[in-house]
Formats: sequence, structure tokens, C-alpha cells
Amino acid sequence: MMSERQAARGRSERTEKAQWGTGGRVATRSTPHASRSPSFDIVTIGDMCVDLVVDIGDVTPRFGQVEQWIPDYFLEMGGSTCIFACQAAKLGLRVGILGRVGDDVYGNLVLQRLQESGVDTRYVAVRPDLKTGLGIALCRADGDRAILTYGGSLNAVYPADVTDAFLSSGRHFHYGSYYLLTHLLPAAPAILQRAKALGLTTSLDTNWDPSECWNGGLRAALQYVDLFFPNEQEALAVTGASDVEAALRVLMEWVPIVVIKMGARGALVGRKGEHWEVPVEPVAHVVDTIGAGDSFDAGFLAGWLRGLPLLQCAALGNACGRASTGARGGLQGQLTAADVSEAMDVELQK
Ligand SMILES: Nc1ncnc2c1ncn2[C@@H]1O[C@H](COP(=O)(O)OP(=O)(O)OP(=O)(O)O)[C@@H](O)[C@H]1O
Ligand SMILES: [Mg+2]
Repeated sequence: MMSERQAARGRSERTEKAQWGTGGRVATRSTPHASRSPSFDIVTIGDMCVDLVVDIGDVTPRFGQVEQWIPDYFLEMGGSTCIFACQAAKLGLRVGILGRVGDDVYGNLVLQRLQESGVDTRYVAVRPDLKTGLGIALCRADGDRAILTYGGSLNAVYPADVTDAFLSSGRHFHYGSYYLLTHLLPAAPAILQRAKALGLTTSLDTNWDPSECWNGGLRAALQYVDLFFPNEQEALAVTGASDVEAALRVLMEWVPIVVIKMGARGALVGRKGEHWEVPVEPVAHVVDTIGAGDSFDAGFLAGWLRGLPLLQCAALGNACGRASTGARGGLQGQLTAADVSEAMDVELQK
């Protein structure tokens, strides 16, 4: 089994190199819109919020006005697509994000983190009538978590906000947090269809569906998606398959490139009936896994948008996901283009 995969990997790597060249860019592939010169490599829509991660140790919160000491807490920008956008920008991609923040300190934090990571925020509106979204994660010493979410700005983007001008400012559209951008859900297939018609390539990461229904027009939306990035549980939930390889087979019928993230086991990548396991070196001490999957997506796309072979894209994704687990929150461990050049001999600088 393994040797077959390795042989297939070699074949596929050669085919991809021949097809794309190692230093090429997607824009050079012949598409009807190849003459466009968009401002951004990637445009995305932000589930803009902050995360308050509360380390409660062995303490169980008690009502009845009981006050208890806790060991630690941590406040940082959250939001899967915001974390994704920061990682993509740190890897040298030009990234534009559409979203809303409240006119408050948390909104300032979100804007500051995006901007200092190099993300363009011209499509982010500061809304005095909204509070910035907030996720409160109560983390117990045994690793279990309870999460409380206030929406506010997190899901305040509506279909009419996703204009053609915004979409066509990018050459690739990444749709993340599919189920959390609740007001966009009914329009999601149409938005992706429009992005394709405007000449963009597209990717989608569902992240978790809090309703656990896994509907929301996902099958229709996936018709217009070039790369799909579920994690293992999401791939099983979306397909109803009982194991990850079966899920991959189903997803490959729906989407040209499927990348299933498998935590410490790396990723499973499928295209045109072929698939490859791309392992990662497990992190000895995981600090937290917040945003690992989102940084993985950004790393993978940083390779793909430069025309690198899929296995190299997956290795880049693994490197970014892995680095994210070694530091607190979704931003601190993120790799830069220089880190990647040094560690992986992959040139991502512009
Ligand atoms: N313990 C680990 N050791 C090494 N790499 C890891 C570890 N956990 C995660 N990664 C890397 O991060 C990637 C994404 O992790 P995971 O499979 O948990 O995605 P996810 O569930 O989508 O994450 P998120 O919580 O951000 O949505 C993995 O494919 C792998 O590359
Ligand atoms: Mg995820």
C-alpha cells in the first residue's frame, strides 16, 4: 500500500511539475480571465471576533454568585478566516478581507492584528451598531472545553455586501467558516458561482457546523469549489462515510482537489482518483490547536497559487498547521515566508 502511494507520488509530482512548472503562478494558466490583474491573490470573508481563552484548571464554574480563582486567561483575535488571512499574508500573499467589527476595543484588536499581519482591511467596516463577536472558551486541565459564542460582528456580512467589485479584486476566493457566516448561507452557492464566473479559483473550509446538520446548500456550493479543506470529522460528517478514505473517495466525486486535515497525522490529499497521505512530524508539546486548520489552508494555498506540486503544497500546509499548535492562539506560531524558505527550501518571497 505504502509503496504504491510512493510510486504514485513520484508520478504525480513529475506530472504536476511538467504541467505547471515549479515557479509558475496560477494566473499564467490559460483561463478566459487570464488578462485580469486583481489587487489581491486571495480574497476572503471574515468571521470577525476575539477569543477569550480561559484556563480554568480543575475549577468548575458555579452559579449562586460563587467566586473562584483561575490559573490563567488569554485574549486574542479569533475567527477562522481572519486567522487564515493573517497566515496567508505572512507567507507573502496579497490578501483582502471583507467583514464587520464593532466600534470597540475588541474591534480595534481585530483590525490591528489583521493590519500588522499584512492583510488589507479596505473592505472591513467599523459598525457602531454592532458589538465585536466574542468566543469564550473555558478550558479544563483535562483538555475538555466549553465554548460560549456571542455573534455580533462575527456573522454580520450579508449577501449584498459580497459585491462583484470585492470578488473581482482577487484571483482566488477562500470561503471559510461556512456555517458560522449564517446570513450568507442561503447565498453561498451563488456567491461561489459568481466568483468562478468572474475568473477566480475557489476554496472552501466548512469548519464545524454548530447545528451538526451539514446541509446549508453545501453540495450545491461545492460545485463551484476547486479545493475543499475539511478536517477528518468534518469529512465524515459531510459524506456520512465511516472512514476517512471512503470520505475522500466520495468528496473526490464532488471537488477536483480534496485535502483532509488529520491533526497530528498530517493530511490526506486527493485529486483525479489518486490520493496521497502527507504525514507531519507530531508536535511534542501542543499548546493549543486553535486555528491550526486555518493556517494549514493558508500554507497549502500559498504553494498552490504559486503553482507548486500538490505534495509540496500539503507539506507547506502541514508546516503552518504544525507551527500553529506550538504557540498560544491562532496567530503567535504562524510562519513567515522567510521561515518557510529557510526550513523547507521553498521560495515564497515576491
Ligand atoms: N499535534 C500535531 N502535530 C503536528 N501537526 C499538527 C498537530 N495537530 C495539527 N497539526 C497540523 O495542523 C493541521 C490542521 O489540524 P487539524 O486536523 O486539527 O485541523 P482543523 O480541525 O481544521 O483545525 P481548526 O481547529 O483550526 O479548525 C494538520 O493537518 C497538521 O498539519
Ligand atoms: Mg478547521
